[in-house]
Amino acid sequence: MLVLEKNALSVEIESLVNKYGTDRPALLQILQAIQRKHKYISDFAQQEVARLLNIHPVEVYSVITFYSFLCSEPKGRNIVRLCRTISCDMAGKDVVEAAVKRELGISFGETTKDKRITLEYTNCLGMCDQGPAMLVNEKVYTHLDPETAVNILNEIR
Ligand code: FES
Repeated sequence: MLVLEKNALSVEIESLVNKYGTDRPALLQILQAIQRKHKYISDFAQQEVARLLNIHPVEVYSVITFYSFLCSEPKGRNIVRLCRTISCDMAGKDVVEAAVKRELGISFGETTKDKRITLEYTNCLGMCDQGPAMLVNEKVYTHLDPETAVNILNEIR
């Protein structure tokens, strides 16, 4: 079973390499495509990308760790990213942060046991005059306070 899954993933990555090519910009496009479909980029996928692009797996891993939208571990069904840049920080990010952690019982960088929500920080979302801001999957929420943030979490749970 595991072997079959690995072969299917290899075939999929080969077709991505055929589509995007093997140069440097292709690496990011291939990783984004894997991330979109599988929600993370497994060790095996990283090795396959490295093999097919003829680069070291460490290079693939370093690209994944550089970009916050790529990850090497499975995450929750919903990704909640709280802006930690200065304007949001000054607008009350700390109290929102505390409320969100208390509500979910996890810290930032962690995923709830039921795999429904992963909490992360993000840098500026471009909503600095409307902070604190939070990105929930693809949607940005602004002017947050602890209560509205917790309500948003309860809606996606
Ligand atoms: S500082 Fe938070 S959106 Fe810009």
